[in-house]
Amino acid sequence: LPFPADLYRPLRTNSKGVEFGDRDALAELLAERDAAPAILHAAPSSGRSARPPRELRSPIDSSLIGSVVEADVETARAAMATAARVFSAWEATAIEARVAILERAADLVETRRGALIALLQSESGKTLDDALAEIREAADLIRYYAEQARRLCAEENLPGPTGEDNRLRRRGRGVFVCISPWNFPLAIFLGQVAAALAAGNSAIAKPAEQTPLVAREAVALLHEAGVPHGALHYIPGDGAVGSALVADPHVAGVVFTGSSETAQSINRTLAASNGPIVPLIAETGGVNSMIVDSTALLEQVVDDVLASAFRSAGQRCSALRLLCLQEDIAEDALAMLIGATKELRIGDPRDPSTHIGPVIDSAARARLCDYLTERRAQGRVLYAGEAPQSGSFVAPHIIRLDRAGDLREEIFGPVLHIAKWRAENEKDLSTLIDEISANGFGLTMGLHTRIEARMRIFAEATPAGNLYVNRNMIGAVVGSQPFGGSRMSGTGPKAGGPDYLRRFLREETVTINT
Ligand code: SER
Repeated sequence: LPFPADLYRPLRTNSKGVEFGDRDALAELLAERDAAPAILHAAPSSGRSARPPRELRSPIDSSLIGSVVEADVETARAAMATAARVFSAWEATAIEARVAILERAADLVETRRGALIALLQSESGKTLDDALAEIREAADLIRYYAEQARRLCAEENLPGPTGEDNRLRRRGRGVFVCISPWNFPLAIFLGQVAAALAAGNSAIAKPAEQTPLVAREAVALLHEAGVPHGALHYIPGDGAVGSALVADPHVAGVVFTGSSETAQSINRTLAASNGPIVPLIAETGGVNSMIVDSTALLEQVVDDVLASAFRSAGQRCSALRLLCLQEDIAEDALAMLIGATKELRIGDPRDPSTHIGPVIDSAARARLCDYLTERRAQGRVLYAGEAPQSGSFVAPHIIRLDRAGDLREEIFGPVLHIAKWRAENEKDLSTLIDEISANGFGLTMGLHTRIEARMRIFAEATPAGNLYVNRNMIGAVVGSQPFGGSRMSGTGPKAGGPDYLRRFLREETVTINT
């Protein structure tokens, strides 16, 4: 079974060399997790909101896990004003001091992993291996951006005529509004905030409504590492609060991960401002496909499809939604895939042997169930697993399409669509890629083949941001696989890549006539 093997990889960034390669280490990890407090309360880190607390319940079993006092619009505006006031002092902090604070924060992410895993599981229903992978990614992102900042914020001497001294400096822009999603409530949340802070900006962190608790812990940890309270504000809230933050006159940049519609709405708000022209970094969704030809190794295909489509209950923006099987091998591949899908264990994600936990909440479950009911009525369900009835569980499903181009919307859950394709000559692959890409997205795409010419066509013809050949399509590694798409999938630059931090900086050329 594919997923639990991940548990036994060491923490990639853990300089203390902690490994989970044996049962004792796993038992220790579970003990750390189980020692974490069961109920937590969160409130904005600055100001006083007039809102009553909202109860938070786990998607695993609806049990009470805490509460959050959300910011009202006034609290959000006050935080923006304070962050704007404090910006110059934070920006003036020596880059080595900023880097040291962020590196301390990355260390804290690792040492607090028990408490963070507990929250990632109870609040967002993550399996143990997903929670661990997220902790690794969060620490990686913080360290990577700190290192990038050290490099980019060093003043550069540029050539010029004799008697002229030219220098390029990169500096923070001001207040960055960071709006993050619930599917990576620690890694994407911390990645956005760390990038903004490393570049010398002050940051307003607005977590997703579903996951304010783990975000609160992340902000507490950054404050503990030394980020001044005025330079980083935790502002949990609803869409109205998000809109107020983006429309605020103090905003100097927005980094957003979530739906394409919300990104477009933020873009409109920023464009309507008569003040400074404010950059938006958006990472949105995708209708991601994998193409498999008749030369592919089917055992590997099945393994990679299971991981790409069903891991994290399909709730990754990188997840596989559409599998295109070459006609000649489609029936064999499908039979193997269904056989393997039947083996996946769905249930309480706190049990290390679980492969698929719940979806994020009952609203997500209801949306997915409606979609699946319609497909069932159309006779398109090739496989439907069984999920626990309590909590927000959705079993893995496999749905038949007539054509690859029929899938136009992102179905955010453990639902895999299958289409067959016919290959008569090399052009058929480009035609298929064009048909798939007509959906307007461009995030991840995969290919399984042993024909090199096809790999080249795929690399040339695909408008996706992350292309994967002969492997799964998820889990982009910071610094190795910079992540993010284009078209309806995002603006770039890629998270965890060498160009990301530049967008958080403004450039200043100083020319001195000596
Ligand atoms: N970065 C994640 C991945 O690669 C998706 O958000 O799976």
